[in-house]
This record gives sequence, structure tokens and C-alpha cells, in this order.
Amino acid sequence: MIILIIGGSASQKLAANVAKELGETLCPLETKKFPDGERYVRIKGEVEKNVTVIQSTGFPQDENLIELLFILRTLKDLGAEHIKVVVPYLGYGRQELRFKDGEAISAQLVANLIEESGADEFISINLHEDSVRDFFTIPTANLSAMPPIAEYLAGKVENPIIIAPDKGALDFAEEIAEILGCNCTYMSKIRLGPDKVETRIVDVQCDFDSEDLDKVKKDSKVNIDSVAGKEAIIIDDIIATGGTIVNAIGILKEHGAKSVDVCCVHPVLVNDAVLKIMAAGARDLSSTDTLTSDVSCISLAKLIADALR
Ligand code: R5P
Repeated sequence: MIILIIGGSASQKLAANVAKELGETLCPLETKKFPDGERYVRIKGEVEKNVTVIQSTGFPQDENLIELLFILRTLKDLGAEHIKVVVPYLGYGRQELRFKDGEAISAQLVANLIEESGADEFISINLHEDSVRDFFTIPTANLSAMPPIAEYLAGKVENPIIIAPDKGALDFAEEIAEILGCNCTYMSKIRLGPDKVETRIVDVQCDFDSEDLDKVKKDSKVNIDSVAGKEAIIIDDIIATGGTIVNAIGILKEHGAKSVDVCCVHPVLVNDAVLKIMAAGARDLSSTDTLTSDVSCISLAKLIADALR
């Protein structure tokens, strides 16, 4: 079965690498912006029945999203019968609820638009909220980037401890700690505003009363004092302004970490986030290539290709 791979303008290299992994054809695509700002899309290859479209919808979110919708509808018009849509980073994915009266549930509309425009399957990576999948009626998958991230980190550290900068990232930290066979810990974070967070240390209590003895034995969570003399690795799904990470680096340094490396799945990296993180004392900053950035050195092409096989 021939599968045509199309990379939108936000995910060109990743799409090319996925096509290479799969040994499938990469379809040429012309995209441009008219002088008035409107988007233009032209699929330049022969459309197959089975097509995979890869396009992240990060900044500029609206343009990348509309481009994705144009691609999907055009593919259907030109005879595609089954379209798998891979959106490695889903813009608007963080507004899956009406947190305040009257707010738009942006993630729901985005999901509806992708499906209505022609998607037959939807794949993303570490969605900020897995519940976003419930907005689709087509099959969906939410892949974890933790195995490739752990593989990248394994070659770089000798005596690591994995740090979740907030409770939401603890699952990621535990997944990586388990793969690397080391401990992890987490911090507690309160968001005071879009670019302001407060971070505190947590007294980690292992659930020794749990009836799941395997879990108790495997529990890798330790208190923050355990970072002393260790190579701390902070892991998060998204780095946006960098405020969360800067706070965590400060706490780790105060508690005697030998070094602090930072890694995330989605490098949103607003404004001077990279500088802020490096100036706070990070030894290394790395991320996957769900979004293109200076630090996107961990390719998820194989992870995506394996999910598409
Ligand atoms: C929030 O829950 C996410 O996991 C990240 O911690 C957050 O998006 C990071 O934002 P910032 O870099 O602006 O602190």
C-alpha cells in the first residue's frame, strides 16, 4: 500500500524524516501568504488514496491551523480516501475547558475543524490534556515522547535525578526515571499569571499503604534533598515563557544539584525564554522536534513512523 506523506510548512523536516523512516513518498506542497495576509496552499503531487499529513499548529497558530485545514479539504477533493493527520504540537490544546464563564473552548473547535476538514485518524504527541481526544469521533492516539527523550539523555548523564517542575509533569518524570533506572522528584507550582509562577518544594510521601506492592517497590519518588551532588534533569511537556523552569533551576541549585539540564517535548519558547533558562544556570537545554527551534535536537520521526506503520 502506497502512503503519501505531506508536511505542512510548520513540520517540513519532520515530515521528510518520517517519510524516510517509512520509505514512502514525500509530496511537494506549495504554501505562501498573499500580500493581504491570506494563506495559499497547492498540493503539487499526485494524490494517493492513503495520505498522512504532518503539521504542528504552534506559532503562528492561526496560520498553521488554517493551512492544515486547507490541505485536508484539498486532499479529500482530490480523491484521498483515508487521511491520517499527525499534529505533533496541537496549538489551542491547553483550553479544553471553560475555566472562566464565557470562555471559548478552543481545543474543542480545533478538533471539530480538523475532523470536519477530512481527517480520518488523529495522532498527536503528549497532548497537554489527554481529554482533548474526546472531542474527536475518529480514532486518535496521544504518543509519548518520553522513550526517545530518555534515549537522548542516557548518553549524556552518569548520575541523574529527574525533576518535574510541577505535579502535572510528574508522570513524565516517572516514565523517564523508570527507563533510566534513577530517582525522580517534583515541585509544586501555582500560576499567578500568564508569565508568572510560584514554585515550592514538596515533602514527597511514598504511598507505602498501597496494596499494589509492585508499585511501592518501584516507587522512585524522593525528597528534593536527594538532588545534592546529582545531575538534575528537569522535564516538562511545554516550555513557553520559561518561568516554570527558571524557578525550578533556582530550587535545584539551592539544594546542591551538581548540574541542571532541561528538556521538554514542545519548545514553544516565547521571546527570550532560552536566554532566561541558560542565564538561570542550565547546563543544557534540549527538546524534541514537534516544533522547530534552536534546541529541537531530539527527532520524533521514528516514534511517529512506528505509530503510522
Ligand atoms: C503547564 O502546565 C505546562 O506543563 C508547562 O509547565 C507550562 O506551559 C510552562 O509555561 P512557562 O514556560 O510559561 O512557565
